[in-house]
Amino acid sequence: MTSEAIDNLSREDRRFEPPADLAADANVKADAYETASADRLAFWEEQAKRLDWETPWEQVLDWSGAPFAKWFVGGRINAAYNCVDRHVEAGKGDKVAFHWVGEPEDDTRDITYAELKDEVCKAANALLELGVQSSDRVAIYMPMIPETVVAMLACARIGAPHTVVFGGFSSQALIDRIHDCDARVVITADGGYRRGEPAGLKPAVDTALEQCPDVRSVLVVRRTGQDVDWTEGRDVWWHELVDGQSAEHTPEAFDSEHPLYVMYTSGTTGKPKGILHTTGGYLVGTSYTHWAVFDLKPDTDVYWTAADIGWVTGHSYIVYGPLANGTTSVMYEGTPDTPHKGRWWEIISTYKVNILYCAPTAIRTFMKWGAEIPEKYDMSTLRVIGSVGEPINPEAYVWYRETIGGGRCPVVDTWWQTETGQIMISPLPGVTAGKPGSAMTPLPGIEAKVVDDEGNPVGNGHGGYLVLTEPWPAMLRGIWNDDERFKETYWSRFKDMYFAGDGAKLDDDGDIWLLGRVDDVMNVSGHRMSTTEIESALVSHPKVAEAAVVGANDPDTGQAVHAYVILRESAGDGGPEVVQELRDHVANEIGKIARPKSIMVVPELPKTRSGKIMRRLLRDVAENREVGDVTTLADTSIMDKISAGMQDAK
Ligand code: WTA
Repeated sequence: MTSEAIDNLSREDRRFEPPADLAADANVKADAYETASADRLAFWEEQAKRLDWETPWEQVLDWSGAPFAKWFVGGRINAAYNCVDRHVEAGKGDKVAFHWVGEPEDDTRDITYAELKDEVCKAANALLELGVQSSDRVAIYMPMIPETVVAMLACARIGAPHTVVFGGFSSQALIDRIHDCDARVVITADGGYRRGEPAGLKPAVDTALEQCPDVRSVLVVRRTGQDVDWTEGRDVWWHELVDGQSAEHTPEAFDSEHPLYVMYTSGTTGKPKGILHTTGGYLVGTSYTHWAVFDLKPDTDVYWTAADIGWVTGHSYIVYGPLANGTTSVMYEGTPDTPHKGRWWEIISTYKVNILYCAPTAIRTFMKWGAEIPEKYDMSTLRVIGSVGEPINPEAYVWYRETIGGGRCPVVDTWWQTETGQIMISPLPGVTAGKPGSAMTPLPGIEAKVVDDEGNPVGNGHGGYLVLTEPWPAMLRGIWNDDERFKETYWSRFKDMYFAGDGAKLDDDGDIWLLGRVDDVMNVSGHRMSTTEIESALVSHPKVAEAAVVGANDPDTGQAVHAYVILRESAGDGGPEVVQELRDHVANEIGKIARPKSIMVVPELPKTRSGKIMRRLLRDVAENREVGDVTTLADTSIMDKISAGMQDAK
């Protein structure tokens, strides 16, 4: 992948040096890279000391069964003890663990570490009463409420791996996951709030369980108070079972490799993969990266990951990493526009948030709404702002830095995956001069390379596939019940290297630019191009709020570029002149080869509930096919609107 088009992506020459005061006082300085590369295992061994182990490990890494890793072999540890009890024992019981903000205004709750400990112990005792034993799987299908964290930690405390199913998923998704990991207990709520309205969760559980006869108990939190059907003998209210339990529970230490959770994620085939994470290494990886990447000062910072707990970002950077570090976090139940489009910024000013971590898709939405909304709020407490989930377009990066970060906060663009468990590639806020659009370099202790089709490292200025060449502590330990699929998916493409499925390029300085999933890389007339690159060009036009680009089969050029754009409110409706202007703009920014064959102005883009654009569906439209499976879309009506617009345009 050495095309001129890709080279243009790194024509971006803005650089943002770390602020001097942050750099002087940074948790991690430049020497960490050298220390870690001199002796990687010694580096991770040092990081493991940030946790409390009941029994120390005998060996840092056992890679003899590769690709199945064992970290901190022989060590014994309890995850919940590390996230909660030890902070209380250290005299920090009165410290707030979560400023929880419900979607209805004024529905807020501050939970201290001491309170969290009591809640987790009670819930652990309740699970024991329901007959849950260590290694039994528990499914959690909840809104963003404190009980969700309590439920996860209660499972971890008694060694029962949890599988959290995102509350926006359908009952079918719940069935598939319950079957795949054979969960016997489900924890849910009557419902949660979504855009001002109570939205039911329990009905989806009831429907799902018609096909899951092995589930014997459903523990139900009362959140909205809406009416629910009740199955006697199976369903039990959280407040009836948990609240009356003893707040004493002695945590048992488990083997470092004891399963902590299974998180399902979609692969290239239809069946989701159950990504398995275990205890010791995962806690080391998440707590170190949370402390290093966000320059977390646990005693003073207020930290906010604005993501759902139902995704890995929530697991690693709302629950395990921040709590292991004794952080005070914000946790928000609702959407960014309820009841008004300034809700996030209001939360930041109310709680004096210092660190914000969110997704580019959210940032682009805020751009579309306009800078005047965040500008109304005092966000001077922010110090570091992060991005995760997809490549961040340089324009969105700069807008985020300027408008949200006040021009002073480093942006940490963090690359990682459900599978990696922890952040892998990211700037360090006190060390790295950030480049808009680049995730920069692997963190200390991480080895990543960009390789060509044969698995040979490419040189600077060249592109290829992103691979991870050494094991890392929070890495997945497999796919639940499917060792073959684990080896096949990640370890067969290149020998002895983890294939991430992402395209990447090294710029002339050797910094890494993520180019999207390799299946999103297009080949137009023999030129390889990234959807991201063209999307960035489109978004850099002042009239464009958001863009999605796909490569569709084309009889002349192999593939052709088709773009779908959402215009900014100020840009009007978008007639043919605007479309022409945008095509020319892309040609100017990248080169004629990248000029989209078609650009369609759309009201919304098809996105999964986690905010990823489903380009597959847009490709169906561009190739005049019947649109495929839309069930994982957050709003399934969007594809009808887009297809109808396409017909009108013909
Ligand atoms: C993409 C989310 C570019 C990538 C934590 C990866 C990114 C997939 C970035 C994993 C980033 C995530 N820059 N691309 N900073 N972060 N990705 O499993 O394609 O939901 O393979 O994990 O998101 O998504 P997942």
